[in-house]
Amino acid sequence: KSPSPAAAEAKSEAAKSVKIGIYFATWWALNVVFNIYNKKVLNAYPYPWLTSTLSLACGSLMMLVSWATKIAEPPKINLEFWKALFPVAVAHTIGHVAATVSMSKVAVSFTHIIKSGEPAFSVIVSRFLLGERFPPAVYLSLVPIIGGCGLAALTELNFNMTGFMGAMISNLAFVFRNIFSKKGMKGKSVSGMNYYACLSMLSLLILTPFAIAVEGPHMWAAGWKEAVSDIGPQFIWWVVAQSIFYHLYNQVSYMSLDEISPLTFSVGNTMKRISVIVSSIIIFRTPVQPINALGAAIAILGTFLYSQAKA
Ligand code: 3PG
Repeated sequence: KSPSPAAAEAKSEAAKSVKIGIYFATWWALNVVFNIYNKKVLNAYPYPWLTSTLSLACGSLMMLVSWATKIAEPPKINLEFWKALFPVAVAHTIGHVAATVSMSKVAVSFTHIIKSGEPAFSVIVSRFLLGERFPPAVYLSLVPIIGGCGLAALTELNFNMTGFMGAMISNLAFVFRNIFSKKGMKGKSVSGMNYYACLSMLSLLILTPFAIAVEGPHMWAAGWKEAVSDIGPQFIWWVVAQSIFYHLYNQVSYMSLDEISPLTFSVGNTMKRISVIVSSIIIFRTPVQPINALGAAIAILGTFLYSQAKA
C-alpha cells in the first residue's frame, strides 16, 4: 500500500531537515578549522592581504580543476552574469580582506563578536539607503546587538582600532554583498556552488593588484623565510589548510543558501560564530573577563531576537 500524501510529505520534510542539519554542521566545522589555521598563520606571518588572496586563489584553482575533470558541472554563464556579479565581488573582496586584517590585529573571538552585529548593519542600510521599513520589534532587537557589541569592545583586553574597524567594515561590506547577491541571483540557474566559485575568481582578480600595492612580494618573501624558520615546514601546511578550508566553508554556506531562506541562513551564521568564538578562546587561551563575555552573550542574544522579530 502506498503511503498517504500527508505521510509522504512528512517524510520529505524530515529528509530536508536532516539535509540542512548536515549542511549546517559541516559549514560550522569547516569554519572553525579555517579560523584556527588562519589565526595560526597570521600570528607567524602578519600579511592578511596575501593570506586573503591565497584563500581566493586556492578556491578558484580547486573549482577550475573540478570543472575541467567534470567533478562539478561547469556553469553556463555569459557576460551579463559577470556584470551582475561584479558589485557582489567588490563587496565580497572588501568584506573578506577587512575581516582578515581585523583578525591579524585582534583575537579571533573579538572579530567574530563584532561580526555578530551584522544584522544591525543590515537594518540600518535597508532603512536609510533602500527606504525599507521594519516592525518596531526589529528596531528594538538592535538595542542588545549594538549595546552588547559595544560592551564587548569597551571591555576587550587587547582592543585595537584597526582590528575593530576591520570587523565593522566587513559587516558593512557583507550587508551590501548579500543585497547585491540577491539581485544578481534572481532568475539565474547557477547553483550555489558554482555561484561561489565565480565569486572567488572575480574577487581574486580584484584583490590581487591591491594586495601587491599594500604589502607586495618583498615583504611577503622576507616574512615567509622568517615564518618557516620559526615554525618549521609545517607552516606551509597551515597556509594550505587555511586556504582550502576558507573555500570549503564558503562553498558549503552558498550550497545551503540554495536550500534555505536568507533568514534561516543568518540564524545559522550567528550560531556558527558561537562555535568559532568558544573554540578559538579555548585553543588560543584568549583572556576574557566576565563583563566582556557578558557583552558577547547580549549581542548574540540580540541577534536571535532580531531573527525572531524579522520572522
Ligand atoms: C573572511 O575572511 O572572509 C571572514 O572570516 C569571513 O567571515 P564570515 O564568513 O564568518 O562572515
